[in-house]
Amino acid sequence: MYRQRIRHPKFQERVVSAEEAASLIKDGMVVGMSGFTRAGEAKAVPMALAERAKKDPLKITLMTGASLGNDLDRTLAEAHVLSRRIPFQADPGLRKAINSGEVMFIDQHLSETVEQLRTDQIPGIDIAVVEAVAITEQGGIIPTTSVGNSASFAILAKKVIVEINLTQSETLEGLHDIYIPSRRPTRQPVPVVSPESRVGFPFIPVDPDKIVAIVVTRKADSSSTVLPPDEDTRAIAGHLADFLKYEVKSGRLTNELQPLQAGIGTIANAVMHGFIDTPFHGLKMYSEVLQDSTFDLFDAGKLDFASGSSVTLSQSRYEQVIADLARYKHQLILRPQEISNHPEVIRRLGLICINTALEFDLYGNVNSTHVGGTQMMNGIGGSGDFARNGHMSIFVTKSIAKAGKISSVVPMVSHVDHTEHDVDILITETGLADLRGLAPRERAQTILANCVHPSYRDELGDYFNRAVVRGGHTPHLIEEAFSWHNNLRLHGTMKP
Ligand code: COA
Repeated sequence: MYRQRIRHPKFQERVVSAEEAASLIKDGMVVGMSGFTRAGEAKAVPMALAERAKKDPLKITLMTGASLGNDLDRTLAEAHVLSRRIPFQADPGLRKAINSGEVMFIDQHLSETVEQLRTDQIPGIDIAVVEAVAITEQGGIIPTTSVGNSASFAILAKKVIVEINLTQSETLEGLHDIYIPSRRPTRQPVPVVSPESRVGFPFIPVDPDKIVAIVVTRKADSSSTVLPPDEDTRAIAGHLADFLKYEVKSGRLTNELQPLQAGIGTIANAVMHGFIDTPFHGLKMYSEVLQDSTFDLFDAGKLDFASGSSVTLSQSRYEQVIADLARYKHQLILRPQEISNHPEVIRRLGLICINTALEFDLYGNVNSTHVGGTQMMNGIGGSGDFARNGHMSIFVTKSIAKAGKISSVVPMVSHVDHTEHDVDILITETGLADLRGLAPRERAQTILANCVHPSYRDELGDYFNRAVVRGGHTPHLIEEAFSWHNNLRLHGTMKP
């Protein structure tokens, strides 16, 4: 059966076991693997590598598109295979190894990794391992449920291993649009002018001689871990809908809005799901990860088109979408993450960008990555690509975490991913702060009035009032600015 998927006449003889392919990876190598938010990752070779490391220890630098499924990041971390990990992860086991200092994690804007590789600013890829639906007659690689960084990894690597995954539907062929920016000084504009623009190849073009091994696998993608909408996320979605309706009424947007981008995780998925109950229609997405909510919106007749870099779905949604892929296919494109997150395209299309904060401060600086200022959660992902370059940059979060022991609105963020300059709108379940055109003192007043949980509102107001007495463009009591985080560290709660 796999033979039909390996269409290049010379490639049948390159089929080997996962162990044999993994033996090509040597200590100290830089390895680029497919995979983006649990979708389309190479599965058999990294597993064989972790197994081999138990007897024959080795360390590699691992680059991917984003997080991996099938517990691969945990398995590789536990086998102590990873010395460096770039550019994103979302695994509790790997997170532990990163926070203990064992694994050096380079938390990077997702559009930047291959740009730095292409220009030799970071060490080049020795071997790429890419999951594929099939290999074309000319040796082109047809990716599966994500594109991520796979195309540039394969093009730039010295050698390529392809995993043909028989569980990945052949109907995925034709979904991908592989465009690679040209080299400087003659680089051309990226010709994407709408979410529907097809500007590249439906496969990854590689030199066939570089494909040194092909492994046949039968392990499915793991399903997404997002939770269904709850009362708080429904309230956040409601505030966003009211705000956008006001923008339409004021003539700044139409009911088609502008292309939407939504971040990863439970909150962003729930907020997107909330668009079902709005008057908006004919919507388009130009995003990074397409979650269940994308297909909920297709089915509700609200969404016309979605461009992303991966499809990450719950088990039941995955089975339904794959069975009905022919129905959705004309409304979908999967692109390299360099293009889904390209600053030039994001600015051109005028995206409305919705990403999630762990915490934000009185003035609208956002921390999306570091718990308590030091402990890495997942990484910045694409949120910075979109927040900086979008038409409108919206951050959402619940106003409290851990049953109220943590306020998500703090005097000063303990780590900054998105500065106040990149943040237009903040939303919690308690309300929405529109920061556009406001100076820091005005930003603080609208955040205090709308976004803070009642159990922290008086204390934060008191902090602000005392800071204002001291003065400054952005008033602070520097000696107290992290006292809430310090309380959390010492007493397990931010409350004094
Ligand atoms: N301090 C400490 N922990 C916090 C917190 C805070 N201020 N706010 C939330 N948390 C915890 C939650 O309690 C939860 O913990 P649990 O996993 O132990 O239950 C966890 O963070 C996840 O929060 P949740 O409310 O479930 O949100 P989410 O699934 O939507 O994830 C982020 C939120 C910020 C972690 C996630 O969106 C992320 O990693 N973002 C950065 C990357 C990004 O935005 N990429 C998209 C670009 S396209």
